[in-house]
Amino acid sequence: MTLHIVDHPLAQHLLTRLRDVETPPPVFRTLAKRLTIALVIEAARELPSIEVEVETPLQKAPGRLISPDLVAVPILRAGLGMLEAVTELFPEVTVGYVGLERDDTTLRPTSYYEKMPALEGRHVLLLDPMLATGGSAAGATARIAERNPAGIVFVCVVAAPEGVRRMEAEHPEVPVFTAALDRGLNDKGYILPGLGDFGDRLFGTGPDSGLPPLTRRPG
Ligand code: PRP
Ligand code: URA
Repeated sequence: MTLHIVDHPLAQHLLTRLRDVETPPPVFRTLAKRLTIALVIEAARELPSIEVEVETPLQKAPGRLISPDLVAVPILRAGLGMLEAVTELFPEVTVGYVGLERDDTTLRPTSYYEKMPALEGRHVLLLDPMLATGGSAAGATARIAERNPAGIVFVCVVAAPEGVRRMEAEHPEVPVFTAALDRGLNDKGYILPGLGDFGDRLFGTGPDSGLPPLTRRPG
């Protein structure tokens, strides 16, 4: 398995702002999308492209187009924070979904939803921001691989060495693109230093969530 750490200064700038505990959900969502664009631009090196010729206003020009067989699969729920980046970069992309939720105690993911287009012979971008133990990414990759795609590329925001080792052991053919390889996991399976619970920060469902007090009367 090849691990690609996207160390472009802009990617690192966006990651640093995402990590910051002071970043609130509306900003977190924007940063997540922008960082995913930077990651997917790099991951697109793994996608096949074909040589074409186009007419400019002046003459013919040779060019390349990325193959239109692309399928994006976000792992619900946090992977949704990466999806819009892909649909904007590749408006023709087909989208499949895998719903996985990690048990807080066993850290094993259970599947609660799956909706997949035909994948045979197609190229899949699998999206999940956090590669922690690797159980979710490896499980989703296995479900996708059963459908015989031509290739799978996994894109995440932060990876832990444990998750990278698991992907290497179970899916050595799948390249992994990430903005950071962090130190490790704590005893609850959270990445250190990480950025906390990505899904909670994206959707505002953390322990401090709830309605903020009204500071002035409406109307
Ligand atoms: C988080 C994250 C990954 C998974 C990573 O999802 O988005 O899917 O944990 O952990 P792992 O590598 O140890 O499997 P979570 O299960 O918390 O669900 P959510 O996306 O609904 O918040
Ligand atoms: N899931 C997250 O959202 N964050 C982690 O650090 C680990 C798993």
